[in-house]
Amino acid sequence: MGSKGLETARAKMQDAGVDPVAIDTFAHYYRLLEHGETGMIPESSISPLDMEALVDVEVPDDVAAEAVRKTAVIKLNGGLGTSMGMDRAKSLLCVRRGLSFLDIIARQVLHLRTEYDATLPLIFMDSFRTSADTMAALARYDDLQVEGLPLEFLQNKVPKLLAKGLVPAAYPKNPDLEWCPPGHGDLYTALRGTGVLGRLRDAGYQHVFVSNSDNLGAVPDARVAGWFAQSGAPFAIEAVRRTASDRKGGHFARRKADGRIVLRETAQTLDSDKAALADLDRHQFTSTNNLWFDVDAMTEALDARQGILGLPMIRNVKHLDPGDPSTPEVIQIETAMGAAIEIFEGARTIEVGRDRFVPVKTTNDLLVLRSDIYDLGRDFVLDQASQQIPYVDLDADYYKLVGDFDKRFPEGAPSLREATSLTVDGDVTFGHGVKVVGDVAIKTPSAQRVDADAVLGDDA
Ligand code: UTP
Repeated sequence: MGSKGLETARAKMQDAGVDPVAIDTFAHYYRLLEHGETGMIPESSISPLDMEALVDVEVPDDVAAEAVRKTAVIKLNGGLGTSMGMDRAKSLLCVRRGLSFLDIIARQVLHLRTEYDATLPLIFMDSFRTSADTMAALARYDDLQVEGLPLEFLQNKVPKLLAKGLVPAAYPKNPDLEWCPPGHGDLYTALRGTGVLGRLRDAGYQHVFVSNSDNLGAVPDARVAGWFAQSGAPFAIEAVRRTASDRKGGHFARRKADGRIVLRETAQTLDSDKAALADLDRHQFTSTNNLWFDVDAMTEALDARQGILGLPMIRNVKHLDPGDPSTPEVIQIETAMGAAIEIFEGARTIEVGRDRFVPVKTTNDLLVLRSDIYDLGRDFVLDQASQQIPYVDLDADYYKLVGDFDKRFPEGAPSLREATSLTVDGDVTFGHGVKVVGDVAIKTPSAQRVDADAVLGDDA
């Protein structure tokens, strides 16, 4: 017999028509939650992981081209961009020249199809909250969908649980908010449950490339596809070298007990191991969340476990209505897609350039992406136009939410090509054509405007 909270959650999911395997998966994590599972990975149980770099790997052109023709692309698009105050998919935001993340992703893929004479299906994993908007935004690309395959599949939904009592939360005012997508680790459950994995297999695709829709650097590049194909690995993740700003983030390591590669997140690190976590010489690589898997190997791994991969659980505490802190605290049970690396014997990692990792997690990242730091080539791939990426830190009070941010850059981002850093402390609105040079720090107690064409910094 399960606990009352679990039974209520199960019934609620059944009533909502959630896939039975997704319900069993939720039940698996609910029990872990109930037993106070923390998923800690002690430093003493892992050793540092080294890896080869893509630049050093020989990938013959014909191998690369053939690999692209056997690849399908999935974009994770189920998240809501809550850290930037959004309740829609981040990928709907405009990046430049009226093109959104979705437009750029679609055009990157269409371009590669022509270049390699490949079908290269593009499929979005949406959630019940992101599907309608995303499909409407993609409607203009009538040649995007590949025959026999969908343009999207929906991830599952799970009930938010009241932190007090672990029972499903009720919110009659807005019942949608009683549910959440269970993190991108749900990819595998959703792929199998919706039948998309089987359809990809039947259609002869061997490799799947998955990445975040907020990372425009994650192009299904032929050289990476070729590397994955010739590695023969069941599963792989692209890694980048950790920098000072990744110090607190997760990293790859090798588990001593069985030699498997694991990803250790901050939340899985004991306080006594925090110094080791922050040691960039010891743990040198972090995940891009650009991931490759072999369709047969994934099918077998899921079938062998009745669809439940058993990834480490992430316990996410939020408010029932994220926009209303007076609503009760809830626990959202989530898993992360990259954690599946530990399931596969022979999984690999490969170091790639930073150009494949351009995540937009904050409006600081969005400002850089919208600026002249990047050009968009004819292939719609981001081309970094400056030696370095400036450090941007905008006052959270005025810029954290994307609506507030947009109001303060009404004419677009300033030029950042010659900038080393831009720090804004206070409420500053930027006019058209402002240029930032070197290190610029603005501090103001009252609202201020930077005039059009002003040059801020060294030469000003
Ligand atoms: P993030 O957690 O970084 O982005 O997920 P988010 O969920 O959009 O933003 P926050 O955390 O609410 O501010 C990385 C990628 O995974 C997708 C997101 O759409 C993004 O592309 N994702 C995340 C899903 O597809 N499903 C989920 O349940 C969670």
